[in-house]
Amino acid sequence: MKDMLYYSRRQKKYHKEDIYDISLYRANAAEHGESDMGLWIAGIVLAALAVTVLVLSWYERNHVAVREYEVVSAAVGEAFDGYTMVVMADLHDNGAGRRNNRMMAAIRRIHPDAVMVAGDMVMARKGVCRYQECVRLLRRLAFRYPVYYGLGNHEARMGQDDAYGESFRDWYQEMMRAGVTVLDDLSLTIREGKDALTITGLNLDKMYYQKFKKVPMEPGCLERSLGVARRDEYHILLAHCPAYFEEYAAWGADLTLSGHYHGGTIRLPFLGGVMAPNYELFPRWSRGRFDLGEKTMIVSGGLGTHSVNFRLGNMSELLVVRLRRGNS
Ligand SMILES: [Fe+2]
Repeated sequence: MKDMLYYSRRQKKYHKEDIYDISLYRANAAEHGESDMGLWIAGIVLAALAVTVLVLSWYERNHVAVREYEVVSAAVGEAFDGYTMVVMADLHDNGAGRRNNRMMAAIRRIHPDAVMVAGDMVMARKGVCRYQECVRLLRRLAFRYPVYYGLGNHEARMGQDDAYGESFRDWYQEMMRAGVTVLDDLSLTIREGKDALTITGLNLDKMYYQKFKKVPMEPGCLERSLGVARRDEYHILLAHCPAYFEEYAAWGADLTLSGHYHGGTIRLPFLGGVMAPNYELFPRWSRGRFDLGEKTMIVSGGLGTHSVNFRLGNMSELLVVRLRRGNS
């Protein structure tokens, strides 16, 4: 570049240095232009990624996947071979309007023998308790099917803390009016000829719903709350918190239906759910089916969200669980 000369008409002479400076300036300008372009491209890619993630999350929160499970056990009575349950959990009063209408239509196509609720259909915070959508949905379901309701930490909170006023009583009355059977540390046995099926709803004390950690269960806690499990017939436990599967199985639950972890909010390949609503990271039983010997637990990824209103790789889900008589 130094060989090139620039001729100044005003000064009527050549300036080598000017030419050199200009060429340097142009080189720098080109460099700056390239790095700016790089930043623009990175920005556009990041923005496109963010939009894609938000759209996917919106879709997963506003549509419901139906997941089916079959549980085979010799303890299932002949009369209950094929007994089909729809399992719902963690609605958190979400999904007003069209989504829940579509879900109702899906349930009608399944034509279940019963609807099992594994808790947290309401949204309970101090000063804010919402259960209108829960009432609306369960009223429609109870009109067609038996609905058995086990309490979650949100329902329990409304009942155990004075700060929630009369919310629990009002919600409970709505459930009674709708014809929903609320199993608040209660059991119910369905008999068909010589066969029977027992359903128990556990209302776990709030001390077991701590943030960030699992509190070990006191020995005898389940016996004190629920009595002794029925060993002579198939026994289903509606237990909102899946963290105590070993304790539920040891107590005698053949099948535990659970929720609470919202599938871990974001699900990653190989790693599973990332974070539970109590901010526990990588919870052990965040969604799906788990077996301990002859005992089974099925955990719903939930129908709604609260606090962290986000899902990714973790579609809202409705479960269909079918019992089969046989050797597993
Ligand atoms: Fe919960």
